[in-house]
Amino acid sequence: MTDDRERWNEKYSTDDEFELPEDPIPALARLIDTLPEGRALDVATGTGRNARCLARHGYDVDAVDVSDEALDRAAAAAESEGLETVTWIRSDIDDFEFERSAYDVITVSFFAALERLPDLKEALAPGGVLVYEHHLRSTDSIDLGPSTDRHRYRSNDLLRACLDLTILDYRERTRTDDEGRTLAVTTLVGRSSTGGRQPYPPEQDG
Ligand SMILES: C[S@@+](CC[C@H](N)C(=O)[O-])C[C@H]1O[C@@H](n2cnc3c(N)ncnc32)[C@H](O)[C@@H]1O
Repeated sequence: MTDDRERWNEKYSTDDEFELPEDPIPALARLIDTLPEGRALDVATGTGRNARCLARHGYDVDAVDVSDEALDRAAAAAESEGLETVTWIRSDIDDFEFERSAYDVITVSFFAALERLPDLKEALAPGGVLVYEHHLRSTDSIDLGPSTDRHRYRSNDLLRACLDLTILDYRERTRTDDEGRTLAVTTLVGRSSTGGRQPYPPEQDG
């Protein structure tokens, strides 16, 4: 059993304060109708909020997480919604074999995966889109996220790591969740395409 597997199973089983939102990350909710259709991968899916959103919109989804507990909850939630197109995969991301050029959409939220980003980007199909959101280091007063900066990105870390994609949107900001708690987040939307004339999604509010 990897350390992460044990640690995250314990967190899901014993930490009553730890609850992941049901709604997909705002960037995915905002852009879902503009993203290429087909296969999707949700990395470190947790209880599957992004994976289930993608399945609801017709994607065949692979959803990976190190925690058995998380995947049990994710699969139960998907079943209760009648979603049948998600394959729940229990794997440490360090051991996960990314299928090359396979996915039209890849989502990662609140999981530090910079070391696997080269493989993750190669897993995008031509024209495939990466939607990635993570905690930022911030001087603002922040209520949510890792207790130390070790697992937060610095300004521009994510942008710099994705400059070989066409950056469709990049933001660094604070926001407040439904319960009024503040978090500092970086959000990147990038497409596996470079240079030349390309189509772009229309400007949207928010
Ligand atoms: C903060 S949660 C985010 C879950 C989900 N992406 C979301 O935004 O709701 C982080 C997730 O990463 C998973 N995780 C931690 N280490 C991992 C690893 N080495 N490989 C795969 N998943 C991992 C945990 O089990 C947990 O479900």
